[in-house]
Formats: sequence, structure tokens, C-alpha cells
Amino acid sequence: MFPEIDRVLIGRETIARRVRELGASLASDLRRDIEGGGASAGDGDRVVIIPIMSGAMVFGADLIRELPLKLRLELVAVSSYPGRSLESKGAAIRSELPRTLGGRHVVIVDDILDSGQTIAMVRRLVEEQAPVSVRACVLLRKDVPRAVSEAEGARAEYVGFDIPDEFVVGYGLDYDGYYRNYPEIATLRREALA
Ligand code: IMP
Ligand code: MG
Repeated sequence: MFPEIDRVLIGRETIARRVRELGASLASDLRRDIEGGGASAGDGDRVVIIPIMSGAMVFGADLIRELPLKLRLELVAVSSYPGRSLESKGAAIRSELPRTLGGRHVVIVDDILDSGQTIAMVRRLVEEQAPVSVRACVLLRKDVPRAVSEAEGARAEYVGFDIPDEFVVGYGLDYDGYYRNYPEIATLRREALA
């Protein structure tokens, strides 16, 4: 069905187990923040999860179901790997962020932290609205020198897996728009990368 897939790096069960662990630690950290946040935060309606489309669609869908908290979901679309490119071309926002993040606990969710430009840009836009807390949660983090520093926002507080600098697809990640529905994290055959 997917003849272009070369090698599976992270299988289904391993992903599922790690998503449950990430959800558990995120939920307990958020709960602690909400409870420590004083009376105004006590209503428990303070959490906003922002998955970055389209890459975080699959991860985000699984992750939010591991968060037994009252939360809102707000999608934001960013493109950084247009078409058949294998390298980040800088992040461009394609949809407005909601204007309602002030006073909230915000969690940015993405498929992968690569050059760091995407997370840094979204984090900056979120921070402009004076949220109570901002966290980033990524499924994958690539072992590459990053274009943007951690201090500039290119970091994730929650990381599923550290992976080597290889181009991967599946579980939401694409090449030229394809393979997002492949259920595992895998590499593509050389011939498939035009
Ligand atoms: P950054 O801004 O360079 O950190 O890029 C992050 C975005 O680039 C992610 O949200 C992905 O959509 C995309 N990306 C980075 N590495 C890969 C990869 O190996 N496969 C597919 N997409 C990737
Ligand atoms: Mg993406």
C-alpha cells in the first residue's frame, strides 16, 4: 500500500505509549498550574490547546484525548515545508491566532521541532497576548543545529522522541502533502524524494 516507505523508525505501539505518557505529564502540570492560579483561574476553563496544522493533526487528536481537563481547541495553520522541499524555508502563518489567549494556559502542539522557526514564531504570537503560561509539546525533535535559539523560543517543554536528522513521514508528517495517514514514523526511499 505504501511502497515508497523505507524504514519504520517508531512503530504504532511505541507512539501510542509515549502519547499517553506525554498526556499524563502535561495534564498533571496543567492541573497544578490551574490550582495554584488563584480564584480567577479556579473555574478550570483556562486551558487552550493549539495544534499547528496540518502536521499536528494526528498527534493533536490523540494527545487531547489523554487530557482529562476542561479545555478549548484552537487550530493555527503554519507552512514551512512547501511542496517537495526537505528543508525548512522559514515559517509563514496562514491563519490568525484567536484573540482570547490572555490569562490562559496555552499549549502549542506540533509534529516536529526541526529548525525551530515554527514553534518560535507561534510562541511569540501567543506571548503577545499575555497568557498565564505557554508550553510547547512536540512528538519529535530532530537532532540538528537550530536556526533560532532556545532563548528565542525554539524549544519544546515536552518531547515525545529525539530523532536523528532524517526526513520522516507518517502520523501527520508529510512529504509533498502525502503520507500523513501512514500510522507510524518512517523514512522514505531515496527514489521517492524528488
Ligand atoms: P521548523 O520550523 O523547521 O521547526 O519546522 C517544523 C515543521 O516542518 C514541522 O511542523 C513539519 O511540518 C515540518 N518538518 C520538519 N521536519 C520534517 C520531516 O522530517 N518530515 C516532514 N515534515 C517535517
Ligand atoms: Mg507542519
